[in-house]
Amino acid sequence: MSTSGRIKRLSVTDVRARKGETPVVMLTAYDANTARIADPHVDVLLVGDSIGMVVYGFESTLPVTLDMMIAHGGAVMRGSQSSMVVIDMPFASYEESKEQAFRNAARVLAETGAAAVKLEGGVRMAETIRYLTERGIPVVGHIGLTPQSIHTLGGFKVQGREEHHETLLHADAQAVTEAGAFCVVLEGIVEPIARAITDAISIPTIGIGASAACDGQVLVTEDMVAMSGRKPRFVKHFGDMGSELDRAVKAYSEEVRNRSFPADENTYPAQK
Ligand code: KIV
Repeated sequence: MSTSGRIKRLSVTDVRARKGETPVVMLTAYDANTARIADPHVDVLLVGDSIGMVVYGFESTLPVTLDMMIAHGGAVMRGSQSSMVVIDMPFASYEESKEQAFRNAARVLAETGAAAVKLEGGVRMAETIRYLTERGIPVVGHIGLTPQSIHTLGGFKVQGREEHHETLLHADAQAVTEAGAFCVVLEGIVEPIARAITDAISIPTIGIGASAACDGQVLVTEDMVAMSGRKPRFVKHFGDMGSELDRAVKAYSEEVRNRSFPADENTYPAQK
């Protein structure tokens, strides 16, 4: 089967080869329009399960389902051409057994066309990561502050400030690397530990709240453009779409109410 004429997307090998080289730029996208706008600028589009909080207004990522991830993953694939698309495995879709993880991850890749899945957990998920990667499913690891474990972590807490954290985080990073993940997200980890992990492992680390020492960075797009209404310390606003949307909605409402919209140029005349 020929695939000529298609734009080649960034591959797992390309991302892995970035270790210690050019930083990997990852950003979340949940819909085709955001994907279309971000695609020319980023390396990886992450269909994160943060969608549960950002788009669906849940308190946590726990209510997100596999069907939601597949529907939004397909939209992001259709909106993009050159970025690698990675889709989060939602809570309870992979933890039960490695077979359950394979079945669901295979569905995600087959039904969306995305290149890889991301799942949370280090040592405890290593066997599953190995099972998936040995069967052709590329995996992005995710350690540190893992939002699906919010109840066991006791909240969205920075990791690495307690003495025993350092050893555990290093073990998690080594475990996902040895299991075959091609890169790993480090979330909410203090700088010295994120730096030491980045130096110690052979795959790229992608930081979110884990300092500039990582091999790449990821942010939630809606946080980065001031749409989500939250700004934790690790977020920088690179734009203010929240204010712009507010301005536009206000202007539209005023023009509908005073009947200046739609104007003649927005109205179909009887004759062409
Ligand atoms: O769900 C998500 O958006 C994520 C990133 C924050 C890394 O996992």
